[in-house]
Amino acid sequence: MHKVLSVVGARPNFIKLAPVHAAIKAVGGFEHIIVHTGQHYDANLSDDLFKELEIPTPNYNLGIGSGRQAQQLGQMIAALDEVMEKESPDLVLVYGDTNSTAAGAIAAAKNGIKVAHIEAGLREYDKLIPEEVNKLLTTSVADLYFCPTKTGVANLQKIGITQNVHLVGDVGIDLISNNLEHIIANKGIFEKLHIIPGQYYFFTCHRANNTENPLALKQILAAIEQLDLPIVFPIHPRTAKAIAYHNLPNPASFQNVQLLPPLNFFDTQSLIRSARMVITDSGGVVKEAYFHKTPGIIIDRQIEWVETVEEGWNRIAGPDCKRILSFTQNWTQPVGHSNCLGDGAAAHQIAHAIKNYLAQC
Ligand code: UD1
Repeated sequence: MHKVLSVVGARPNFIKLAPVHAAIKAVGGFEHIIVHTGQHYDANLSDDLFKELEIPTPNYNLGIGSGRQAQQLGQMIAALDEVMEKESPDLVLVYGDTNSTAAGAIAAAKNGIKVAHIEAGLREYDKLIPEEVNKLLTTSVADLYFCPTKTGVANLQKIGITQNVHLVGDVGIDLISNNLEHIIANKGIFEKLHIIPGQYYFFTCHRANNTENPLALKQILAAIEQLDLPIVFPIHPRTAKAIAYHNLPNPASFQNVQLLPPLNFFDTQSLIRSARMVITDSGGVVKEAYFHKTPGIIIDRQIEWVETVEEGWNRIAGPDCKRILSFTQNWTQPVGHSNCLGDGAAAHQIAHAIKNYLAQC
């Protein structure tokens, strides 16, 4: 029996953990300990998702909460250090690029524990992006790399990492593929929001590039206020606080906007699938839109899911009102869709690869 320990803390970590936990259980031969750093603590960003995605209650919740980037990271590493010492797992699994991801990887490496990185090798090549720093830190101490895309593999190759690199696809796509019937059948959310499939935009905005920059946020809000269809806008608490702090117009007062709290995972997928377009700075929403063949307009300056842009499903407008409006009005359907994010079997490949790896250690 191998003991593996997953470190999670923020919403996108939980979404990746769900299929991986299920695969670890199905493959068998593992004891799986789940540690929640407490980075996300609001029920609709955390506990509700554990219930919806049937993830067991974490064995530990470290209750770290919000804070300045480096302080939050430091507190997580210190608290995780104690858990790693006590549990002494054979391998630590970290997911994506949040502060919890980097903290888990560093704490494990400092305890001499092997680290497996899920969603390895992606880059935005801008160290001012908090997630980019987390990607770099995690790559540098990982032992096993599970890449979602060929670009991820190539990026690792460029820095000399070629051993224990697996191209498996994206585990988030596993979750959607395995629940696609439910996502398609879920009509209740359209009735609840009084919207017609194909006749609304799905909009999200939460990345620090935009929320910490009042000029960017102002441009983005000006664009959504002028859009020609209803807009569904589940707002991240960070964005709500930033809009109030910078004294920007409250989107709840825009006639075309339905401002909502963060939504559950499956309602979100149904809404992305049937949207006229998504407008977002979320890497998660970008790749989910690609899967559902929904056009995406990216309101950040770059994105790590470069294949989805190259194939024409997503276009980078940046935080620029004119470009956002022009991109929504001038859209050409791409010619192909290569399923470049995988075929829904990533988590099982990961569980098998970990088993093989640990058998050889
Ligand atoms: C984090 C991740 C980001 C991910 C996002 C998904 C990092 C650096 N960023 O960003 O990659 O896309 O999660 O949501 O790890 N807050 C609450 N309640 C909560 C959590 C946060 O109100 O439960 C507010 C607080 O004001 C906090 C702010 O959101 O200061 C930012 O939270 P934080 O966890 O630092 O980053 P996210 O923006 O959520």
